[in-house]
Amino acid sequence: MKRMLTMIALTVTAALANFANAQTATSPDTNTATSDAVFQDFGGKPGISKVIDDFLGIWQEDPRISDKLKDADVERLGSLLKEQITQLTGGPAVYSGRDMKTAHQAMGLHNADFNALAEDLQHAMDKNGVPSRAQNKLLAKLAPMEHVIVTK
Ligand code: HEM
Repeated sequence: MKRMLTMIALTVTAALANFANAQTATSPDTNTATSDAVFQDFGGKPGISKVIDDFLGIWQEDPRISDKLKDADVERLGSLLKEQITQLTGGPAVYSGRDMKTAHQAMGLHNADFNALAEDLQHAMDKNGVPSRAQNKLLAKLAPMEHVIVTK
């Protein structure tokens, strides 16, 4: 009888250990748990919307690259940028626009254009108090796009 109880106790202990392991395996890891931290640092959708609206305003006033917007559908560009930045920061959106190569290939953009645009975006993020850790996370996602967007 004693042996039987010991067996049951061991079985229960093993089952509990398995359960605990399964919980650990399926519970969100640190990355998943914090995956929308950058999105939250931007202030969620309203924050991103404000940053992009300000960014487009700053871009339109920037003599280095304002000409690039003269034939653009700025409203459409704005809503696609909001989608794209929401997705890139880990927020709930799926970018539905053209890929970066197709969207920019006819423009003959230079590195200087890219750098000017990145500066304008930083101004817009500063203006809205986006913490620098979140700014850097986003800029790190945009940087690899440069070699596709810049063709001159
Ligand atoms: C990381 C950098 C950049 C990102 C993330 C980006 C993102 C985008 C997105 C999402 C679109 C919309 C695509 C579509 O029409 O389906 C777009 C279009 C466009 N981008 Fe960029 N872009 C970048 C760099 C640049 C630069 C450096 C310039 C010029 C200075 C530029 C000028 C434009 C213009 C003029 C349009 C087209 C708007 C239109 O056809 O109505 N972009 N970009």
